[in-house]
Amino acid sequence: MSRASPKRDLLSITDVAAELPSLLDRALAMKRARARGDRTPTRPGANLALIFEKPSTRTRASFEVAASDLGGRGIYFAAKDMQLGRGETIGDTARVLSRYVDAIAYRAFRHEDEIELARHASVPVINALDDREHPCQILADLLTLKERWPDGFRGKRLAYIGDGNNVLHSLLLGCAISGLDLATASPAGYDPAPDIVELARKHAATSGARLTFTRDPREAAKGSDGLYTDVWVSMGDEAQKDAREKAFHGFQINDALLRLAAPDAWVLHDLPAHRGLEITDEVMDGPRAAIWDQAENRLHAQKAVLELLLPAPSGSAPA
Ligand code: CP
Ligand code: NVA
Repeated sequence: MSRASPKRDLLSITDVAAELPSLLDRALAMKRARARGDRTPTRPGANLALIFEKPSTRTRASFEVAASDLGGRGIYFAAKDMQLGRGETIGDTARVLSRYVDAIAYRAFRHEDEIELARHASVPVINALDDREHPCQILADLLTLKERWPDGFRGKRLAYIGDGNNVLHSLLLGCAISGLDLATASPAGYDPAPDIVELARKHAATSGARLTFTRDPREAAKGSDGLYTDVWVSMGDEAQKDAREKAFHGFQINDALLRLAAPDAWVLHDLPAHRGLEITDEVMDGPRAAIWDQAENRLHAQKAVLELLLPAPSGSAPA
Protein backbone atom coordinates (compact mmCIF):
# COMPACT_ATOMS: atom_id res chain seq x y z
CA MET A 1 0.00 0.00 0.00
CA SER A 2 1.52 3.35 -0.95
CA ARG A 3 2.05 5.87 1.82
CA ALA A 4 2.11 9.55 0.81
CA SER A 5 1.94 11.11 4.31
CA PRO A 6 3.90 10.21 7.45
CA LYS A 7 2.57 7.22 9.35
CA ARG A 8 0.40 7.75 12.42
CA ASP A 9 0.32 5.60 15.54
CA LEU A 10 -2.42 5.07 18.11
CA LEU A 11 -0.48 4.56 21.33
CA SER A 12 -2.73 6.77 23.46
CA ILE A 13 -6.35 7.76 22.96
CA THR A 14 -5.01 11.33 22.83
CA ASP A 15 -3.40 10.44 19.48
CA VAL A 16 -6.89 10.58 17.92
CA ALA A 17 -8.23 13.44 20.05
CA ALA A 18 -8.94 15.64 17.05
CA GLU A 19 -10.74 12.91 15.12
CA LEU A 20 -12.64 11.34 18.02
CA PRO A 21 -16.14 12.54 17.02
CA SER A 22 -15.67 11.65 13.34
CA LEU A 23 -14.11 8.30 14.28
CA LEU A 24 -17.18 7.39 16.34
CA ASP A 25 -19.50 8.59 13.54
CA ARG A 26 -17.66 6.43 11.04
CA ALA A 27 -17.71 3.41 13.39
CA LEU A 28 -21.46 3.80 13.86
CA ALA A 29 -22.02 4.11 10.12
CA MET A 30 -19.99 0.95 9.50
CA LYS A 31 -21.87 -0.87 12.27
CA ARG A 32 -25.19 0.00 10.64
CA ALA A 33 -23.89 -0.96 7.19
CA ARG A 34 -22.64 -4.30 8.50
CA ALA A 35 -26.07 -5.00 10.03
CA ARG A 36 -27.49 -4.61 6.50
CA GLY A 37 -24.90 -7.05 5.18
CA ASP A 38 -22.65 -4.33 3.73
CA ARG A 39 -18.96 -4.99 4.44
CA THR A 40 -17.48 -2.76 1.75
CA PRO A 41 -13.76 -3.63 1.67
CA THR A 42 -12.30 -0.12 1.92
CA ARG A 43 -8.73 -1.29 2.60
CA PRO A 44 -8.30 -4.27 0.24
CA GLY A 45 -5.15 -6.26 0.80
CA ALA A 46 -4.28 -4.56 4.10
CA ASN A 47 -2.19 -6.85 6.29
CA LEU A 48 -2.32 -6.27 10.04
CA ALA A 49 0.22 -7.95 12.34
CA LEU A 50 -1.06 -8.66 15.85
CA ILE A 51 1.67 -9.12 18.46
CA PHE A 52 0.36 -10.26 21.84
CA GLU A 53 2.50 -10.61 24.98
CA LYS A 54 -0.65 -11.33 27.03
CA PRO A 55 -3.83 -13.34 26.47
CA SER A 56 -6.81 -11.88 24.61
CA THR A 57 -10.26 -12.89 23.45
CA ARG A 58 -11.96 -9.67 22.29
CA THR A 59 -9.02 -7.62 21.04
CA ARG A 60 -7.57 -10.40 18.94
CA ALA A 61 -10.90 -11.54 17.46
CA SER A 62 -12.18 -8.04 16.77
CA PHE A 63 -8.96 -6.91 15.09
CA GLU A 64 -8.80 -10.03 12.92
CA VAL A 65 -12.43 -9.62 11.85
CA ALA A 66 -11.97 -5.86 11.37
CA ALA A 67 -9.05 -6.43 9.00
CA SER A 68 -11.03 -9.09 7.15
CA ASP A 69 -14.14 -6.86 6.83
CA LEU A 70 -11.99 -4.11 5.32
CA GLY A 71 -10.68 -6.55 2.71
CA GLY A 72 -7.43 -7.43 4.41
CA ARG A 73 -6.24 -9.91 7.02
CA GLY A 74 -4.80 -10.16 10.49
CA ILE A 75 -1.69 -12.21 11.26
CA TYR A 76 -1.52 -13.23 14.93
CA PHE A 77 1.75 -13.69 16.79
CA ALA A 78 2.04 -14.87 20.37
CA ALA A 79 5.12 -12.83 21.33
CA LYS A 80 6.66 -15.80 23.14
CA ASP A 81 6.70 -17.77 19.86
CA MET A 82 8.53 -15.01 17.97
CA GLN A 83 12.28 -14.47 17.85
CA LEU A 84 11.50 -11.61 20.25
CA GLY A 85 11.32 -14.32 22.90
CA ARG A 86 14.91 -15.36 22.01
CA GLY A 87 16.42 -11.91 22.19
CA GLU A 88 15.72 -10.29 18.83
CA THR A 89 15.14 -6.63 19.62
CA ILE A 90 11.82 -4.86 19.41
CA GLY A 91 13.42 -2.42 16.97
CA ASP A 92 14.57 -5.15 14.60
CA THR A 93 11.18 -6.86 14.84
CA ALA A 94 9.50 -3.56 13.94
CA ARG A 95 11.80 -2.98 10.96
CA VAL A 96 11.22 -6.46 9.54
CA LEU A 97 7.45 -6.59 10.05
CA SER A 98 7.16 -3.15 8.44
CA ARG A 99 8.47 -4.74 5.22
CA TYR A 100 5.51 -7.15 5.16
CA VAL A 101 2.49 -5.56 6.77
CA ASP A 102 0.57 -2.28 6.67
CA ALA A 103 0.01 -1.88 10.43
CA ILE A 104 0.92 -3.56 13.70
CA ALA A 105 -1.36 -3.95 16.72
CA TYR A 106 0.70 -4.64 19.86
CA ARG A 107 -0.43 -5.86 23.30
CA ALA A 108 2.56 -5.26 25.56
CA PHE A 109 3.43 -5.49 29.22
CA ARG A 110 5.33 -2.20 29.09
CA HIS A 111 4.26 1.07 27.48
CA GLU A 112 7.95 1.79 26.80
CA ASP A 113 8.05 -1.25 24.51
CA GLU A 114 4.98 0.04 22.68
CA ILE A 115 6.82 3.31 22.04
CA GLU A 116 9.97 1.45 20.99
CA LEU A 117 8.06 -0.64 18.44
CA ALA A 118 6.37 2.48 17.05
CA ARG A 119 9.70 4.32 16.85
CA HIS A 120 11.24 1.67 14.63
CA ALA A 121 8.17 0.68 12.60
CA SER A 122 7.54 2.51 9.34
CA VAL A 123 3.87 1.45 9.51
CA PRO A 124 1.22 2.54 12.07
CA VAL A 125 1.39 0.88 15.48
CA ILE A 126 -1.82 0.48 17.47
CA ASN A 127 -1.80 -0.04 21.23
CA ALA A 128 -3.85 -3.18 21.85
CA LEU A 129 -3.38 -2.68 25.66
CA ASP A 130 -0.34 -2.08 27.77
CA ASP A 131 0.33 -1.12 31.38
CA ARG A 132 -0.54 2.52 30.71
CA GLU A 133 -3.51 2.60 28.33
CA HIS A 134 -6.14 0.61 26.45
CA PRO A 135 -7.26 3.17 23.86
CA CYS A 136 -9.17 0.83 21.52
CA GLN A 137 -11.33 -0.31 24.44
CA ILE A 138 -12.35 3.22 25.31
CA LEU A 139 -13.18 4.06 21.68
CA ALA A 140 -15.65 1.15 21.78
CA ASP A 141 -16.99 2.32 25.16
CA LEU A 142 -17.61 5.85 23.89
CA LEU A 143 -19.33 4.37 20.84
CA THR A 144 -21.57 2.32 23.15
CA LEU A 145 -22.56 5.44 25.08
CA LYS A 146 -23.03 7.49 21.91
CA GLU A 147 -25.57 4.91 20.69
CA ARG A 148 -27.48 5.27 23.96
CA TRP A 149 -27.18 9.04 24.25
CA PRO A 150 -27.79 10.32 20.72
CA ASP A 151 -28.09 13.91 21.98
CA GLY A 152 -24.45 13.79 23.03
CA PHE A 153 -22.39 13.49 26.19
CA ARG A 154 -23.05 17.00 27.51
CA GLY A 155 -24.69 16.83 30.94
CA LYS A 156 -24.10 13.06 31.32
CA ARG A 157 -21.94 11.64 34.08
CA LEU A 158 -20.21 8.28 34.16
CA ALA A 159 -18.92 6.73 37.40
CA TYR A 160 -15.86 4.47 37.28
CA ILE A 161 -15.61 2.26 40.35
CA GLY A 162 -12.31 0.38 40.67
CA ASP A 163 -8.64 0.21 39.85
CA GLY A 164 -6.69 3.22 38.57
CA ASN A 165 -5.29 1.12 35.75
CA ASN A 166 -4.81 1.18 31.96
CA VAL A 167 -8.57 1.16 31.33
CA LEU A 168 -9.22 4.07 33.69
CA HIS A 169 -6.31 6.00 32.16
CA SER A 170 -7.76 5.82 28.65
CA LEU A 171 -11.26 6.41 30.03
CA LEU A 172 -10.15 9.56 31.86
CA LEU A 173 -8.52 10.89 28.72
CA GLY A 174 -11.40 9.80 26.45
CA CYS A 175 -14.05 11.41 28.68
CA ALA A 176 -11.97 14.56 29.07
CA ILE A 177 -11.59 14.87 25.29
CA SER A 178 -15.28 14.12 24.67
CA GLY A 179 -16.78 16.46 27.28
CA LEU A 180 -18.24 13.56 29.29
CA ASP A 181 -18.19 14.04 33.08
CA LEU A 182 -16.44 11.23 34.96
CA ALA A 183 -16.50 10.50 38.69
CA THR A 184 -13.87 8.01 39.80
CA ALA A 185 -13.83 5.97 43.01
CA SER A 186 -10.64 4.00 43.77
CA PRO A 187 -9.23 2.76 47.08
CA ALA A 188 -6.08 4.40 48.46
CA GLY A 189 -3.00 3.09 46.70
CA TYR A 190 -4.88 2.34 43.47
CA ASP A 191 -5.28 5.81 42.03
CA PRO A 192 -4.66 6.62 38.36
CA ALA A 193 -1.18 7.92 37.48
CA PRO A 194 -0.79 11.63 38.34
CA ASP A 195 0.54 12.55 34.89
CA ILE A 196 -2.53 10.99 33.24
CA VAL A 197 -4.82 12.92 35.61
CA GLU A 198 -2.97 16.13 34.78
CA LEU A 199 -3.23 15.48 31.04
CA ALA A 200 -6.93 14.63 31.39
CA ARG A 201 -7.50 17.87 33.28
CA LYS A 202 -5.92 19.81 30.41
CA HIS A 203 -8.28 18.20 27.89
CA ALA A 204 -11.21 18.71 30.26
CA ALA A 205 -10.43 22.42 30.47
CA THR A 206 -11.07 22.60 26.72
CA SER A 207 -14.07 20.26 26.49
CA GLY A 208 -15.79 21.32 29.72
CA ALA A 209 -15.81 17.77 31.15
CA ARG A 210 -15.90 17.61 34.96
CA LEU A 211 -13.51 15.05 36.45
CA THR A 212 -13.95 14.17 40.12
CA PHE A 213 -12.14 11.71 42.38
CA THR A 214 -13.34 10.04 45.58
CA ARG A 215 -12.65 7.00 47.75
CA ASP A 216 -16.39 6.33 48.14
CA PRO A 217 -18.07 4.23 45.42
CA ARG A 218 -21.52 5.31 46.64
CA GLU A 219 -20.66 8.98 46.26
CA ALA A 220 -19.41 8.40 42.70
CA ALA A 221 -22.41 6.26 41.74
CA LYS A 222 -25.08 8.55 43.17
CA GLY A 223 -27.18 10.06 40.38
CA SER A 224 -24.75 8.93 37.67
CA ASP A 225 -25.87 7.99 34.15
CA GLY A 226 -23.54 5.02 33.92
CA LEU A 227 -21.38 2.76 36.08
CA TYR A 228 -18.13 1.33 34.71
CA THR A 229 -15.78 -1.19 36.29
CA ASP A 230 -12.79 -3.32 35.34
CA VAL A 231 -11.05 -6.26 36.97
CA TRP A 232 -9.32 -5.72 40.30
CA VAL A 233 -6.37 -7.88 39.21
CA SER A 234 -5.09 -6.95 35.77
CA MET A 235 -2.87 -9.15 33.64
CA GLY A 236 0.58 -8.91 35.19
CA ASP A 237 -0.77 -8.05 38.68
CA GLU A 238 -1.51 -11.65 39.67
CA ALA A 239 1.09 -11.68 42.47
CA GLN A 240 -0.93 -8.95 44.24
CA LYS A 241 -4.23 -10.86 44.00
CA ASP A 242 -4.88 -11.26 47.73
CA ALA A 243 -3.92 -7.69 48.65
CA ARG A 244 -6.00 -6.30 45.82
CA GLU A 245 -9.12 -8.32 46.61
CA LYS A 246 -8.87 -7.01 50.17
CA ALA A 247 -8.32 -3.39 49.10
CA PHE A 248 -11.24 -3.45 46.66
CA HIS A 249 -13.72 -4.86 49.16
CA GLY A 250 -16.78 -2.58 48.92
CA PHE A 251 -16.01 -1.53 45.34
CA GLN A 252 -18.31 -4.10 43.71
CA ILE A 253 -20.96 -3.05 41.20
CA ASN A 254 -24.08 -4.75 42.52
CA ASP A 255 -27.81 -4.02 42.65
CA ALA A 256 -27.44 -1.83 45.75
CA LEU A 257 -24.87 0.41 44.04
CA LEU A 258 -26.85 0.47 40.81
CA ARG A 259 -29.93 1.65 42.72
CA LEU A 260 -28.01 4.82 43.66
CA ALA A 261 -27.48 5.70 39.99
CA ALA A 262 -30.14 7.23 37.72
CA PRO A 263 -32.96 4.76 36.94
CA ASP A 264 -31.89 4.64 33.28
CA ALA A 265 -28.15 4.32 34.03
CA TRP A 266 -26.12 1.85 31.97
CA VAL A 267 -23.48 -0.55 33.28
CA LEU A 268 -20.20 -1.03 31.44
CA HIS A 269 -17.36 -3.51 31.87
CA ASP A 270 -14.57 -3.98 29.34
CA LEU A 271 -14.37 -7.74 30.10
CA PRO A 272 -13.18 -10.31 30.97
CA ALA A 273 -15.20 -10.02 34.19
CA HIS A 274 -14.64 -11.80 37.45
CA ARG A 275 -18.27 -12.41 38.34
CA GLY A 276 -18.87 -12.12 42.06
CA LEU A 277 -15.84 -9.87 42.58
CA GLU A 278 -15.96 -6.48 40.82
CA ILE A 279 -19.48 -7.11 39.48
CA THR A 280 -22.36 -9.44 40.34
CA ASP A 281 -24.15 -11.89 38.05
CA GLU A 282 -27.39 -9.96 38.62
CA VAL A 283 -25.96 -6.75 37.21
CA MET A 284 -24.03 -8.40 34.37
CA ASP A 285 -27.06 -10.37 33.26
CA GLY A 286 -29.53 -7.61 34.07
CA PRO A 287 -31.37 -5.16 31.81
CA ARG A 288 -29.03 -2.21 32.44
CA ALA A 289 -25.90 -3.99 31.19
CA ALA A 290 -24.47 -2.46 27.99
CA ILE A 291 -21.55 -4.86 28.29
CA TRP A 292 -22.24 -7.10 25.30
CA ASP A 293 -22.74 -4.15 22.94
CA GLN A 294 -19.54 -2.75 24.38
CA ALA A 295 -17.70 -5.94 23.41
CA GLU A 296 -19.26 -5.93 19.93
CA ASN A 297 -18.30 -2.31 19.43
CA ARG A 298 -14.62 -3.18 19.64
CA LEU A 299 -15.02 -4.46 16.07
CA HIS A 300 -16.71 -1.35 14.68
CA ALA A 301 -14.45 1.12 16.49
CA GLN A 302 -11.31 -0.70 15.31
CA LYS A 303 -12.52 -0.76 11.71
CA ALA A 304 -12.76 3.03 11.91
CA VAL A 305 -9.28 3.18 13.46
CA LEU A 306 -7.78 1.03 10.70
CA GLU A 307 -9.40 3.22 8.04
CA LEU A 308 -8.02 6.33 9.71
CA LEU A 309 -4.46 5.04 10.04
CA LEU A 310 -4.17 3.13 6.77
CA PRO A 311 -4.09 5.05 3.52
CA ALA A 312 -6.93 4.34 1.11
CA PRO A 313 -5.76 2.45 -1.97
CA SER A 314 -4.71 4.88 -4.70
CA GLY A 315 -7.53 5.68 -7.12
CA SER A 316 -10.25 5.07 -4.54
CA ALA A 317 -12.28 7.78 -2.85
CA PRO A 318 -11.26 8.28 0.80
CA ALA A 319 -13.72 6.57 3.13
N1 CP B 1 -11.41 -6.04 26.80
C1 CP B 1 -10.35 -6.69 26.25
O1 CP B 1 -9.38 -6.09 25.80
O2 CP B 1 -10.52 -8.04 26.20
P1 CP B 1 -9.41 -9.11 25.79
O3 CP B 1 -8.36 -9.11 26.85
O4 CP B 1 -10.16 -10.40 25.69
O5 CP B 1 -8.83 -8.70 24.46
N1 NVA C 1 -7.10 -3.88 33.15
C1 NVA C 1 -7.23 -5.14 32.48
C2 NVA C 1 -7.94 -4.99 31.18
C3 NVA C 1 -8.22 -6.26 30.44
C4 NVA C 1 -8.84 -6.07 29.12
C5 NVA C 1 -5.86 -5.76 32.26
O1 NVA C 1 -4.91 -5.03 31.94
O2 NVA C 1 -5.71 -6.97 32.44
